[in-house]
Amino acid sequence: MMRKFFNVRGTSDFKPSETLFFQEINQQSRNICKKFGYEEISLPILEERELFSKGVGEVTDIVERQMFKIEGKDIVLRPEGTAQVIRYYLQNSLYKQNDFYKFFYLGPMFRGERPQKGRLRQFHHIGVEAIGSDSIYIDAEIICLCFEILDKIGVTEKELKINTLGCASDKEKFSVTLKQALIDRKDELCQDCEKRLEKNPLRVIDCKNKQCQKVVNSLNLEMDHLCPDCKNRFNDLMSLLKDMNIDYTYSPHLVRGLDYYTNTVFEITSNKLGSQDAIGAGGRYNNLMKSLGGPEIPATGFALGLERILLILSDIQRAKKLDCFVAVMDKENAKLGFSILRDIRNAGFSADFDYKNKSLKGQLRVAQKKGAKFVVILGEEEYKNNSLVLKNMENSTQEIIKYNELIEELKIRMKS
Ligand code: HAM
Repeated sequence: MMRKFFNVRGTSDFKPSETLFFQEINQQSRNICKKFGYEEISLPILEERELFSKGVGEVTDIVERQMFKIEGKDIVLRPEGTAQVIRYYLQNSLYKQNDFYKFFYLGPMFRGERPQKGRLRQFHHIGVEAIGSDSIYIDAEIICLCFEILDKIGVTEKELKINTLGCASDKEKFSVTLKQALIDRKDELCQDCEKRLEKNPLRVIDCKNKQCQKVVNSLNLEMDHLCPDCKNRFNDLMSLLKDMNIDYTYSPHLVRGLDYYTNTVFEITSNKLGSQDAIGAGGRYNNLMKSLGGPEIPATGFALGLERILLILSDIQRAKKLDCFVAVMDKENAKLGFSILRDIRNAGFSADFDYKNKSLKGQLRVAQKKGAKFVVILGEEEYKNNSLVLKNMENSTQEIIKYNELIEELKIRMKS
């Protein structure tokens, strides 16, 4: 018997409505990134493994467990874009040409995680990286940009969680204090965290094990490790966010699972998702450049996870709205209907038609399913009077208009 094939676990097939929506999100994000002065780059899917072990950190889940390695080679499918953008920046010595760059990228990322709702092995990022400035205004800008993208695509309910890890020496101090606090409670931690405690204590904080989380939650992690400068900078950033009317929650337990972060870290979550509730995340990574063999240059950025965004937007929001559906009451009017359809498309509107000889009721159902804003109905009476019915599907009102005025009338209505 012939076997049946399925998509690989942890990957998703986008059906047509999702593909359209996916493209629309990409386009809207592109426009907003450009408006903020970011330039698009497209980098390969294959990178050297060491780029991520040095960049993201050897003792991180991504590097320890999740990298897809090409057999027999020291090459992996990229698990994230930040280390890669910095590789590109250093490879081309861009710092010698300009002291500040703003990049964005769109594309697939790969992590060999155990698949579950919102956790995939192939997923897509919209990522933004601003390289060359340590200003809190650029931290504020990327958060503002991230919110503008999410607002534009209809993610209305979201929470911004923000924290600071402090500069490299604050972070080191934090790591030592954390280790001291956890060492007495080693027995309560999972086996992985016992090892993490030795090699990279910060990673204990984002362990998903319930018992480890209980231990971590009982610790007071507030700003004690911060030097005055980092503390002031963080307070200034929070006050900037207030000025921009961006609500946030100060979350001292937020450390992020990638080692390159220093100072600001943030995550945007949605309560419409389950345990994988982060739709985007980012922060400052002032030491990454140096870990990859480059000069000391500060940078900050974020990435949004597109599949999680697709999950939280309802079908109605996701349905690509069709501008117009042309319905005919009698088969005899089909030819005229088909010609009106072409006129509407030629005027630049999206339009569709009934190719299945459905009743008017059936055609209206199809129009609704396709998310049509307007339906043009060609009836017997109207046909005689060179007119047609224009039905507004959003408020269910309808009016009779002349054929030759249809396009102008549509233009007026589409603008309002
Ligand atoms: P990240 O938190 O690993 O950060 O990923 C960013 C977003 O990608 C997450 O918030 C989530 O929405 C989505 N995501 C991550 N893993 C998966 C998965 N397995 N399945 C589905 N979606 C996922 C980074 O990658 C950093 N490079 C972000 C950054 C840019 N930081 C500074 N610049």
